[in-house]
Amino acid sequence: MRPILLNLLHNCKNKIGQIRFYCSEVVQPKSDIQRIAGDPRLIEFHSSWKPDEEDDLRRQMLKDMRVIPDFISEAEEISLLSEVEPQLKRMRYEFDHWDNAIEGYRETERKTWNEQNNVTLARLRAVAFENGAELLPHTHVLDLAPAGYIKPHVDAVRFCGDTIAGLCLLSSAVMRLMHENQPDFVLDALLARRCLYIMSGVARYQFNHAVLSNEQSMWRGGKLLKKRRIALICREHPKKPSDAL
Ligand code: OGA
Ligand code: MN
Repeated sequence: MRPILLNLLHNCKNKIGQIRFYCSEVVQPKSDIQRIAGDPRLIEFHSSWKPDEEDDLRRQMLKDMRVIPDFISEAEEISLLSEVEPQLKRMRYEFDHWDNAIEGYRETERKTWNEQNNVTLARLRAVAFENGAELLPHTHVLDLAPAGYIKPHVDAVRFCGDTIAGLCLLSSAVMRLMHENQPDFVLDALLARRCLYIMSGVARYQFNHAVLSNEQSMWRGGKLLKKRRIALICREHPKKPSDAL
């Protein structure tokens, strides 16, 4: 195993980013399942992004921010939760750190899983990542309290490659993506319980993303109450590992 490296979430709007730890060992996905399209009904462009403005970018966003509903079954969700819960329960939620990109969270990472969960995560990797992509070996387990939220940020390019895939457990939530230089270009993604989202390309680099707090959390005009939510996030290794050390 190679040394631990830091993952710095930058571009957090108000404050400095949150430092995270990952191990830089590399794994390979092993399947050749076809690329699955996301469900465009789970993406809502804000009216500030005028219909005739940057149409190519809008279309590209639908390709680069994919949400696949019901990616896992209830049984698969229970199985994943039962493996991460004992670890999470020993930790406290972090609140009120002035420099946090995230409020109301606890997190861990996991490399080895039981057989059933291994199968689920192998399917996730096969769907989300291109063949031959090199992934960070640990799955990031991020537990947000009901009052927790994630401020706008871009995952640091030094520590995370092109594709980020998140499996959403326990509660639905709204993720907001905003163009880094054009704040009118905004869209919301409904991350329903048990969905998988796959963020890459334009969505990953040109837009920041946030998980909305319950004060802000709306979907298509209706309030969406986020409860406790756990995301299992798989990330691609940065392109040049030597840059990250
Ligand atoms: C992150 C992040 C989103 C999520 O950890 O960088 O953006 O789905 N998480 O929890
Ligand atoms: Mn992120």
